[in-house]
Order: sequence, then structure tokens, then C-alpha cells
Amino acid sequence: MKKYLMILTLVLVPAFAVGAAPVNGKLSADVDPHDKESLQRGAQAFANYCMACHQAELMRYNRVARDLGFSDEDVEEFLIFTPGTLAVDVMRNAMRQEDSQDWFGAPAPDLTMTARRHGPDWVYTFLNSFYKDENQPFGVNNLVISGVSMPHVLQELQGLPEPVYEDVDGQERLVGLELNQAGMMSPAEYRRFTRDLTNFMDYIAEPVKAERQRLGVYVIGFLLILLVLTYLLKKEFWRDVH
Ligand code: HEC
Repeated sequence: MKKYLMILTLVLVPAFAVGAAPVNGKLSADVDPHDKESLQRGAQAFANYCMACHQAELMRYNRVARDLGFSDEDVEEFLIFTPGTLAVDVMRNAMRQEDSQDWFGAPAPDLTMTARRHGPDWVYTFLNSFYKDENQPFGVNNLVISGVSMPHVLQELQGLPEPVYEDVDGQERLVGLELNQAGMMSPAEYRRFTRDLTNFMDYIAEPVKAERQRLGVYVIGFLLILLVLTYLLKKEFWRDVH
């Protein structure tokens, strides 16, 4: 019995340690690949606020244009800020990875597949988990990536949440975040803004998702009809036998 208990503890303890959720748990972005307006807003937010440092090298601007209902001219006017870049190009910026390493202490990773790798809810939670931390180089930390090298680039929109510490069993523990002064957006507007961004990142990670889901409905419908036909056929074949 003791042996089993030991094994159980050995299995469970690391599972809990690794799975330690952020203080306020994982938030749900509720992404929707069919919500074109959200995706359009997300694309603009991504181009404006993220592409100074990040790229999405597996995605082309004109693909974004086609899928989200922008014209190539719109894309060049509203989404492209790197001189010399055209709608046919991939979503690349002018920053060198080594510069990011020097300036921020870490390369700003390519974001094409991030929502696929970590899941959209992770991205959404990350964007809603920055908080003030004077011990960090940029004065901010993040509940999802502790000691994060990315500055809180949306601070002017959100404001800067402050950590709330409580004494738990004689130890100071971070128990939540509190926004004392909102930025240019209300908390609800900021959540919508980051959801749009997450929706767009989920789209670039799998541009065919909307099409796949649309086709999926037809495929299931076809299979259901086939099931009925097969059943009727089976009844017809076996009628004389019974
Ligand atoms: C000023 C440069 C800069 C800007 C602008 C910026 N980031 Fe970052 N970002 C970074 C750096 C540097 C890292 C690496 C952080 C680390 O590893 O600690 C990072 C990491 C990330 C990660 C984690 C990726 C992973 O796989 O670990 C996500 C997600 C992310 N950024 C999203 C965004 C979004 C969305 C925006 C736009 C709102 C944005 N970033 C704008 C510099 C930036």
C-alpha cells in the first residue's frame, strides 16, 4: 500500500507543480474564425502593436487580405509599415533577431504558430497577465511567463495592473492583479481588443480553420444521409431471409 501511495505522490506532485495555473486561472478567448470583423480588427492591432518586434513569416499579406476581405491596397495602407514591403510579401519586419536579443534580453519569437503551439487561451491569458514589477528591467512581469523579456506594449491601452500579495502560511504569495488606473480603454474594451488579437493569431496559425469547420458540417451531413441509405439497403437485402 505504502509503495502505491509513494508512486501516486511521485506522479501527482510534479503534475501539479508544472500545471500551476496563473493566479486568476486561464482565461477563455472564445475565438471564432468566422467573426471577420474581429479578425480585421485583430489584424490591424497585430500590425500596429506587435510587428515592430515580432514577425509572422509563414503568412503572406495578400492571403490575409483575401481571407479577411481586405483589398491589396487596404493591406498596403493599413497593415504594412515596413518600407519596400508589398502585399505579396510574407509578414516580416525590419528588426534583426540579434537586436531583439541585445535590446530585450531575448529574441522576439515568430508568432505565426504560437496560438497553435500553446493554444489561443494561453495567448489571451498572457496578454491579460502583465503586472507592475520594479525588479524587472522594463518594470513589468507576467503571470504566464515569469520574468518575461517583453515590455507591456499595450500598457497605454490597458493601464498597468498591480500585484496583490497576501500572507499565506507565513509566506508572501501573489494572489491576484488589481487595475487601479485604467489606460485609454476600459477593462471590457481591453478584453475585446486582446480577444481580437488572439483571434487573428489563431487564424494565422491555421488559416483554413474556418473552411475546415464549414466543410466539416457538409461531411457529417453526407455521412448521416449515407447511414440512412445503408440502413435501408440492409433492410431491403435481408427482407427475404427473415
Ligand atoms: C518591443 C518589442 C515587442 C513588441 C512590440 C511585442 N513583443 Fe511579444 N515578445 C517580445 C519579446 C522580447 C518576447 C520574448 C519574451 C521572453 O521569452 O521572455 C516576446 C514574447 C511574446 C510571446 C510569447 C511567445 C512564446 O512562444 O513564448 C507572445 C505570445 C507575444 N510576445 C505576443 C505579442 C503580441 C500579441 C504583441 C502585440 C500586442 C507583442 N508580443 C508585441 C517583444 C515584443
